[in-house]
Amino acid sequence: MSGVRDYLAWHEQYDDPGSSLPRRLALVREVLRAELDARPGPVRVVSLCAGDGRDILGVLAEREDAARVSVTLVEVLPELVERARSAAAGVEADVQVVAGDAGCSQTYVGLVTVPADVVLLVGVLGNISDADVAATVAAMPCLCASGATLLWSRGRGLEGADDFVTPVREAFAAAGFTEVSIRSFDVQDDRTALSVVRFDRAPMPLGPRQRWFTFVG
Ligand SMILES: C[S@@+](CC[C@H](N)C(=O)[O-])C[C@H]1O[C@@H](n2cnc3c(N)ncnc32)[C@H](O)[C@@H]1O
Repeated sequence: MSGVRDYLAWHEQYDDPGSSLPRRLALVREVLRAELDARPGPVRVVSLCAGDGRDILGVLAEREDAARVSVTLVEVLPELVERARSAAAGVEADVQVVAGDAGCSQTYVGLVTVPADVVLLVGVLGNISDADVAATVAAMPCLCASGATLLWSRGRGLEGADDFVTPVREAFAAAGFTEVSIRSFDVQDDRTALSVVRFDRAPMPLGPRQRWFTFVG
């Protein structure tokens, strides 16, 4: 984690209407509401690099049927883990906040939420190398149940990357995902894209320990 951004300060951008983050959050919540509406029974949700979990926890806080939802949030920064835990205390859902490494396959072994019906990969792919993007996308069938919906974002390109969205779309297609939607919005130099993809194949086993990604940005 050394050398990466201050993610506590990063979260403050959610309060800045000039930032793309509030808009992205609104869109993520809209998709999550629709997913919960479309899935009447128990729903399992996994969020990688969850931050304070305000996307799914914000949606669950407004629902009377939250008790049918199980959530695992994986976040490495202790302050954000604490914030997520206190927000989780206010919802009826079964929420587990794992203080751990979302980039390691071992973290997901034995979780009741895996394979998940909804996977959040938001705020991750723009902060890791191209090789890790490829490895992470290729690993997502290990976290997804058949019929799962996955949300991914790419908020920026790392140095030198111009079209940083197309390779991600291609990688998801190669991993067996079908694109449901992709939206992008430009704010200053931030060209955030948010995509919803669907996985209709059988989930893949987690297998032996693998490193999917390490944050570099
Ligand atoms: C860009 S923020 C996105 C947070 C959240 N998904 C959102 O959209 O609000 C990235 C988050 O990933 C966390 N993070 C970075 N590397 C991680 C790792 N290996 N495992 C778990 N969390 C990590 C950071 O602490 C930060 O909270």
